Amino acid sequence: MSHFKEVTLAHASRLINHGPTVLVTSAHGKARNVMAAAWSMPVEFTPPRIAIVIDKKTYTRELIAASGGFGVCIPCTTLAGLTHAVGSESGRTVDKFAHYGLNARTGPVLGMPLLEEGCAAWLECRLISEPHTEDAYDTCFAEVVAAAADERVFRQGRWHFSDDNTDLQTIHHLGGGNFVRPSGMFYAGDGATAQRPA
Ligand SMILES: Cc1cc2nc3c(=O)[nH]c(=O)nc-3n(C[C@H](O)[C@H](O)[C@H](O)COP(=O)(O)O)c2cc1C
Repeated sequence: MSHFKEVTLAHASRLINHGPTVLVTSAHGKARNVMAAAWSMPVEFTPPRIAIVIDKKTYTRELIAASGGFGVCIPCTTLAGLTHAVGSESGRTVDKFAHYGLNARTGPVLGMPLLEEGCAAWLECRLISEPHTEDAYDTCFAEVVAAAADERVFRQGRWHFSDDNTDLQTIHHLGGGNFVRPSGMFYAGDGATAQRPA
């Protein structure tokens, strides 16, 4: 049974404004992909809009440009190794969903692949067409069109982190494969031993 409950769009930006490292999911036709991104932030209130840095060279950017949308999934501590792994290889050479046995649900508005196992929340986002992004910048602007979060850690519009739910807490990249969760820092490994979500 899923613990995910709808989050109102007014609260959707709070899912990312404490700076979690996220998984950017994308799809176009039969192709699907996932990468890690440490750089994202809310930029507008209503409708909720976010900015996220997605390197122009990534396969993810190619799929987002083709489909006009993407997912932002917020991994918990149990997916730190996987997050590091999918951020260290390109989907051009490996199907990361198949390789890591990732199960995705289909986004309600844009049909983007969204991860819930091992994640605390997701946002489905529509790319805002922006000439500077297309030509020069890695920063992408997008409107959040749907969001959901695990009610054990996000309810009444805010995060609830405690010593009882460290496994469900978000991860924040410090560089070099080191992450901190809201209650402590840990090392995620080099990705070689990444496991599928339990
Ligand atoms: C922890 C972590 C954070 C990252 N953050 C970003 C980021 O904010 N923006 C970005 O463009 N790439 C970031 N990367 C690198 C991409 O995830 C990486 O280039 C990825 O292999 C691209 O995959 P793709 O070619 O399949 O799209 C990060 C990598 C790691 C491990």
